[in-house]
Amino acid sequence: MKRLMAKSKLILGIESSCDDSAAAVVQGVSGAATVRASVVEGQNSLHAAFGGVVPEIAARAHAERLDGCVSAALSQAGVTLKDIDAIAVTAGPGLIGGVMSGVMLAKGLSAGSGKPLIGVNHLAGHALTPRLTDAVTYPYLMLLVSGGHCQFLLVRSATEFSRLGGTIDDAPGEAFDKTARLLGLAQPGGPAVEAEALNGDATRFRLPRPLLDREGCDMSFSGLKTALLRARDSIIAEKGGITRQDRADLCAGFQAAVSDVLAEKSRRALAIYLAEKPARPVMAVAGGVAANSAIQAALETVAGKMGVQSIAPPLALCTDNAAMIAYAGLELFEAGQRDDFSLSPRPRWPLDTSRPAMLGSGKKGAKA
Ligand code: KG4
Ligand code: ZN
Repeated sequence: MKRLMAKSKLILGIESSCDDSAAAVVQGVSGAATVRASVVEGQNSLHAAFGGVVPEIAARAHAERLDGCVSAALSQAGVTLKDIDAIAVTAGPGLIGGVMSGVMLAKGLSAGSGKPLIGVNHLAGHALTPRLTDAVTYPYLMLLVSGGHCQFLLVRSATEFSRLGGTIDDAPGEAFDKTARLLGLAQPGGPAVEAEALNGDATRFRLPRPLLDREGCDMSFSGLKTALLRARDSIIAEKGGITRQDRADLCAGFQAAVSDVLAEKSRRALAIYLAEKPARPVMAVAGGVAANSAIQAALETVAGKMGVQSIAPPLALCTDNAAMIAYAGLELFEAGQRDDFSLSPRPRWPLDTSRPAMLGSGKKGAKA
């Protein structure tokens, strides 16, 4: 049995595909690993004035900061590059300048140390996180919901993923952020909209539930924000402005619409997954939007009704980080993957190539 024979490995992970420069050290074997160190340097302050991530600014910041992140991660783990078994790096999908910074650094470290190089798909990093945090066994259902991603993945192994559906336009986090902007709330919009929604009446504005009338697990969130804009403008036209209560009701209506769409599409994705008769069915949810209590509760209810355990890894490992890249690298290393210096950064890299590519490409780069 491979698992019994596998020897504990120490993997360095590097992530730079969006607006977080990150490095981490993970130790263990596939399905039983621990995070020795995880360093994440965000760039929110660099991009705040521009209302979104500016790719050139992100790339330069990664180039300046990544080696510092690597040094910090190694020293926090109490190891040196000599102790590392392999260097795992995000090779896509994402903003290409940032991905290049990471891949170039990883190649340099690999060339200098002679340690093997492993290119990791950023989405695989997210998708395998429940194996790192909760030792979940294959196959499981994964819902990624963040500012950059929104997809259902049936995870069968570190290299086999079926995409059951995803957004055809905005990611839910983007829709939360745009909603906040339309209502004069602070960024990132998700937490601000959630706080307002607590005092709102979700039934006052009946916003659409896009694509629920269509079969399958694909989703759409861009029409919701247009509907919200219309609702806001009709109040302004009527009363000359919006009150606190109007704003709270709009937030509650918007959050309920996102929650209903995610819950119903999760129910469909779970039905497909359960048809495979997994021994211990699990649905894992990751990404910044998974922090939303109303959405979390709605998803737990759906999973519970279908006899499926729901898992949400701790937020620091749900949002972009390098521990997930190191862990995915560990599984790929055990599976025999080794990359050479021809490893190319990829702006797009769908996990499931049997499905047509997704069209969306939001403020945080390509969706897949
Ligand atoms: O995973 P994440 O930190 O970053 C990437 O997208 O890469 O997700 C950030 C997104 C933002 O759009 C933010 O508004 C959203 O997650 N978010 C939330 C909440 N907290 C963060 N959305 C809804 N409710 C929340 N409580
Ligand atoms: Zn991500």
